[in-house]
Amino acid sequence: MVVTGGAGFIGSHLVDRLVAEGHAVLVIDDLSSGRAENVAAAAELARLDIVTVDVERPLRAWRPEVVFHLAAQASVVRSALDPLRDLDVNVVGTHRVAAAAAAAGAGRLVFVSSGGAVYGETVRAATERTTPAPASHYGIHKLAAEGHVRLAGLPHAILRPTNIYGPRQAGALEGAVVVAFIEQALRDGVLRIHGDGRQTRDFLHVRDLVAALHLVGLAATNSGTWNVAVGRSVSIATLADHVERAVGRPLGRAFGPRRPGDVARSSVSAAALRRLGWLPSIGLRDGLVELVAAASAGRH
Ligand SMILES: NC(=O)c1ccc[n+]([C@@H]2O[C@H](COP(=O)([O-])OP(=O)(O)OC[C@H]3O[C@@H](n4cnc5c(N)ncnc54)[C@H](O)[C@@H]3O)[C@@H](O)[C@H]2O)c1
Repeated sequence: MVVTGGAGFIGSHLVDRLVAEGHAVLVIDDLSSGRAENVAAAAELARLDIVTVDVERPLRAWRPEVVFHLAAQASVVRSALDPLRDLDVNVVGTHRVAAAAAAAGAGRLVFVSSGGAVYGETVRAATERTTPAPASHYGIHKLAAEGHVRLAGLPHAILRPTNIYGPRQAGALEGAVVVAFIEQALRDGVLRIHGDGRQTRDFLHVRDLVAALHLVGLAATNSGTWNVAVGRSVSIATLADHVERAVGRPLGRAFGPRRPGDVARSSVSAAALRRLGWLPSIGLRDGLVELVAAASAGRH
């Protein structure tokens, strides 16, 4: 198995699961936002930039059954500040990984796109047949990257997840509102909300996304594109209330300007993935309690 971006938040949880099942795993990561400490000891880490280094050689040497491609510039705000770097990592980098996976004879390529970014503003829950309307450079580039994965000519799965949260997520990343709220709650007891707090998101625990990656990567499915979401819209104001309950004491709220590229409503249906047998198993309340306990114990 190969996991690009395996030193990052989501990738490292996937690596944990693959290693626990006895798979040999090669992680390709330039450690630009990921950390070597995140990578399970049993996995091998190759520190490479997928934009500038030809990854065909390490892939040919490893002969992976599945290449999971998660390496990315994963920040919407940064994609607006430096669109060309986003284009390089998310489109050129994805093309290079996909072409290398095909040339190296990989059995399957799994790519993590983005449900929130690709569909943009949603009036009703977006299905895989909804016309994409990305509202950020990040979303435009993720959509283009999907095309490069489909054109690479090997069996593939594309996942479009909503907002993912869980252990090891960096609160500084703007999509990481759950972890940012918990850090703010424990630091000074004031939750900083961008905009009026009525914008809605669908929060999925990282281990449920890993289960989806595992399903489309290792179980027999056709090539295709699947949304990954709980299917429940939660406003940021409601999330703040949930965090307050998980922390167990009253918290302040500070409202600031809405950020560029932020959609008001992100709602995605994962009915197609559920038909394959996937079901989210960790509720937001339990996920928050786990994170608060870990952060309070300094284990985040
Ligand atoms: N976190 C979310 O809510 C979310 C939602 C939808 C999709 N995604 C996607 O999931 C994937 C993983 O995101 P994450 O949240 O774990 O972010 P992350 O920043 O923790 O992980 C990305 C990893 O890619 C590595 N990387 C970046 N540029 C690279 C390059 N040029 N060469 C090699 N490695 C490089 C980073 O060092 C990092 O380890 C990304 O594709 C992201 O777009 C994330």
